[in-house]
Amino acid sequence: MAFDIKKIREDFPILKRKMNGKPLIYFDNAATSQKPAPVIDAEREFYEKYNANIHRSIHRLGEEATKKYEEAHDKASKFINAGFEEVVFTSGTTESLNLLAYSLGSEIKEGDEMVISQAEHHSNFVQWQQLAKNKRAKLKFAEITDDGTLDLGQLSRILNKKTRIVSLFHVSNVLGTINPIKKISKIIKEKSNACFIVDAAQSAPHMKLNVKELGCDFLAFSGHKMLAPTGIGVLYGKQELLEKMQPFMFGGEMIKHVTFEDTKFNDLPWKFEAGTANIAQAIGLGAAIDYLNKAGMQNIERHDAELAKYCYRLLDSMGDVEIYGPEERNSLVSFNVKNVHAHDTAAVLDSEGIAVRAGHHCAMPLHSLLGIPASARASFYLYNTKEEIDALGEGLKKVSKVFS
Ligand code: ALA
Repeated sequence: MAFDIKKIREDFPILKRKMNGKPLIYFDNAATSQKPAPVIDAEREFYEKYNANIHRSIHRLGEEATKKYEEAHDKASKFINAGFEEVVFTSGTTESLNLLAYSLGSEIKEGDEMVISQAEHHSNFVQWQQLAKNKRAKLKFAEITDDGTLDLGQLSRILNKKTRIVSLFHVSNVLGTINPIKKISKIIKEKSNACFIVDAAQSAPHMKLNVKELGCDFLAFSGHKMLAPTGIGVLYGKQELLEKMQPFMFGGEMIKHVTFEDTKFNDLPWKFEAGTANIAQAIGLGAAIDYLNKAGMQNIERHDAELAKYCYRLLDSMGDVEIYGPEERNSLVSFNVKNVHAHDTAAVLDSEGIAVRAGHHCAMPLHSLLGIPASARASFYLYNTKEEIDALGEGLKKVSKVFS
């Protein structure tokens, strides 16, 4: 499919909405993306035509639901070039990363070290901090340079044979910085025996990911940021590592055999999918992946990076806007209009029909490092246009005028 933005926009019913009589400009895609008709239809079709539990029922509906659910698994595996056994469905990135903290965390001992960066989202921060406290392990921080990129030299220096886990963002949800994962993976393998976890929440929607090439051990992302419904996400793990790991939750589909004395766990990936799965959401994720594949991940990556660059340059030229992070970025721009609180900026933009996020974006430590309480963030996706960014520029001129 050619990357025809006009056609793409027609697929998203919500984009027809007017806000205060103005067309909706949705720039909060890093928080959650909008959903195209084929995804909404896929979810509705499940409930209307073949709603049943999976992996248990012998009847026709159960078989149809199981087939569609497993197809979604297959699509998600192929989407990142992983094996079928290596992709576990979770509720999203947060659950994926918490699963790892629980499961890998059970092996962490006093004196072990873990590394995250100063720019992590709380979902890749708090569980490691708490684990370190509970186990008397040490949590070290990979530093962010003044230009908003990861200091690879400093990262290399804090790694050693005691490092057991390194967990880093792929694309920062505040700075837009793209971490060179392949290069980082090499540094980690040279200096330590640590497991390398990648938080791909902000990269999987925008770039073609290949876990074999990235060289990470685990990778997590959410469906709802890439056109799918909420409540579904992915944890990728190398098969040999997932085989060895303890399940996070017990019950339902994750068992093979239970006696009064013991339990034999199911095969991968079901070993990590306890209880009734988010079936409709998973099928919606399958439809979202089909949609993204048709639009072409390379086209999306080019489009989103172009919009981010265009926005960066426009905001940079305004004179009274401070931008956070490097110019080289993917899909989002965080900023503040000088002397204006981000919430005020967002409120004025909202009155113009422009939805941006304002706050700490679940990255409070990073904001304290930047020396600001909050920032406004415009984040883009395949249905956004340069004209909409021009409207953001006009909206920001209004912000300056109102608060000057
Ligand atoms: N993690 C999401 C964001 O950055 C919610 O907005």
